[in-house]
Amino acid sequence: MKILNFGSMNLDHVYQVPHFSQPGESLSVTELATGPGGKGLNQSIAMARAGATVFQGGCLGAGGERLKTLLEENGVDTSLLWPVDEAQGHAIIQVAPDGENSILYYGGSNRCVTEAQIEQTLAPCTQGDLLVLQNEIVLLAEIIEQAYAKGLTILLNPSPFDEELAKVDFGKLDWLIINELEAGFLTGTQDPDQAWEVLHDRYPRLSVVITLGSAGSRAYRVLADQVEQVQQPVFPVQAVDTTGAGDTFTGYFAAGLVRGDTLRQCMEKAAMAAAISVTRPGAASSVPTLAEVEAQQKI
Ligand code: RIB
Repeated sequence: MKILNFGSMNLDHVYQVPHFSQPGESLSVTELATGPGGKGLNQSIAMARAGATVFQGGCLGAGGERLKTLLEENGVDTSLLWPVDEAQGHAIIQVAPDGENSILYYGGSNRCVTEAQIEQTLAPCTQGDLLVLQNEIVLLAEIIEQAYAKGLTILLNPSPFDEELAKVDFGKLDWLIINELEAGFLTGTQDPDQAWEVLHDRYPRLSVVITLGSAGSRAYRVLADQVEQVQQPVFPVQAVDTTGAGDTFTGYFAAGLVRGDTLRQCMEKAAMAAAISVTRPGAASSVPTLAEVEAQQKI
């Protein structure tokens, strides 16, 4: 089984700030780093570093060559990337001293996905392959329709959460990875068990992972005759930069699923990888290798 990640790629401009800028405030900052990012690219790097075979789909715009190179250096197949005549997507990221971030996302090239591209990008996929999606590209609903018709297993991380998601048929998904805020938007409650009940009533075949910040994460997997549940605590670390931690979690989780790991193994590796990532600056550059994750698990 292979993984196709049809997603975004961004150039992240990361500013270290004493605090997030307030309405009306001009804030002078001295530290700027530009690095690879985008939820799609970050998750592909995470899946590849976790040992999976990954294809990156999506649009490559002007200035995005270094993102393609990084994907290739990490073993991600870029042959499905679609060149477009538009500036590469980017993000303006403020990182506060406690490692928290605040992100402005400009879609640029990522918003150039077309119907023809969807058909060609999905063409090499066969039944049972895993399609991984986030919400930083356009035509998500169309991609899901076509992937469902081909019998792909579909995992959606609906981030950033916006009104476009109203077009998506969540009943066609196999996996949903959300944080507690997104659970609240979708179901009206941030309580994970209650959110799960609402989602399970609406979409009986959908398995769900809800990340809960310092309270860890919880998984609900629909099996033939029961629902398997796993509660995963966080591994406590000193955070430097939380950017991309959710992507690291999602990528490691998806790679574990494809490897055939148990749900508990998927959750534990995802949580450990995310914990390591927040101890390092940057998004894609902070994703650990599988060897690093397994070494920490033994401690
Ligand atoms: O999830 C983190 C990512 O969100 C960053 O890399 C940035 O590009 C934004 O898309």
